[in-house]
This record gives sequence, C-alpha cells and structure tokens, in this order.
Amino acid sequence: MHPSRSRCTTALFGSLFSPQEDQPIYMAVKGVVFDVTSGKEFYGRGAPYNALAGKDSTRGVAKMSLDPADLTHDTTGLTAEELKALDDVFTKVYKAKYPIVGYTARRILNEDGSPNLDFKPEDQPHFDIKDEL
Ligand code: HEM
Repeated sequence: MHPSRSRCTTALFGSLFSPQEDQPIYMAVKGVVFDVTSGKEFYGRGAPYNALAGKDSTRGVAKMSLDPADLTHDTTGLTAEELKALDDVFTKVYKAKYPIVGYTARRILNEDGSPNLDFKPEDQPHFDIKDEL
C-alpha cells in the first residue's frame, strides 16, 4: 500500500526506491545472465566494474572498456583478438565463478520473437543448475 504523503520521509522513500545492499547483482555476457553478487567488490555500488552490472556488457568485456558506448551486447566489428579475449573471460571468469540465472531474449528468441530452436543452455556442472533453467 502506498504510504500517505506526510509519512513519506526521506528514509522511507530511500528504503523503497534505492538499491538495497542485499539485492542480487546480475549482469549478462553473450546473452547469459550471471548472478555476480559474490563479486560485490567488483560490481557493487562504488566498485570499479559497477557500470557492467544490470545489462549485457559483452562488448565492454571483450574490449576491457567501461566506455558507456561499449556497454552493449553488440559485438559488431570486434577484432579476432577481442573475440578471443571475450571467450576467455566468459569461460574462465564468468562461467567459472558465477551461477547462471537466465538468458537474455536475444539469446533465446529469433528476431521475429519466435523461439530459437537452436538454443542450448550453457553447461555449468560445478553449480547446482535449477531444474527450470
Ligand atoms: C588499470 C586498469 C585495470 C586494472 C589494474 C585491472 C585489474 C584487475 C584485477 C587485478 C582483476 C582481478 C581481481 C581478482 O580476481 O581478485 C581484474 C578483474 C577484472 N577486470 Fe580489471 N583492471 C583494469 C581495467 C579493467 C577494465 C577497463 C575493465 C572493463 C571491462 C576490466 C574488467 C575486469 C573484469 C570483468 C574482471 C573480472 C572480475 C570478476 O572476477 O568478476 N578491468 N581487473
């Protein structure tokens, strides 16, 4: 229920609408959504790679860039080296460290919105993959 205007103190407003320390932190690489909460020191508020969180940051990871223009799923024009770096970090950092919690629409749907029948979930045998994934 919405509190009355007079009761909407700054503290109450903050508690309702500000990011909470105990909320999970998600980010996607190559359309795979990882729960990176355990890497709070990298991705949390005020942390160096916070800008990568909350979106598909594939291009930024490939180029080691935090430039807002690179914080996108788009890999157009990346060099072979950057693509190799992307795959290395994807496998050796993200898949190794962080549980997969989902996939972006781009990864599971075709451009017309129909299901991508070639979609295969990523293997992550060292984590307990939930049945519904
Ligand atoms: C002066 C520049 C930089 C330095 C000295 C640096 C240093 C480091 C170090 C030491 C780690 C490993 C930390 C650990 O495993 O405990 C790391 C991880 C990482 N760095 Fe950087 N970094 C720099 C710039 C960048 C930039 C510009 C990006 C942009 C994407 C980036 C992305 C990452 C990522 C994604 C990880 C993996 C974090 C994880 O384990 O979840 N770094 N960096």
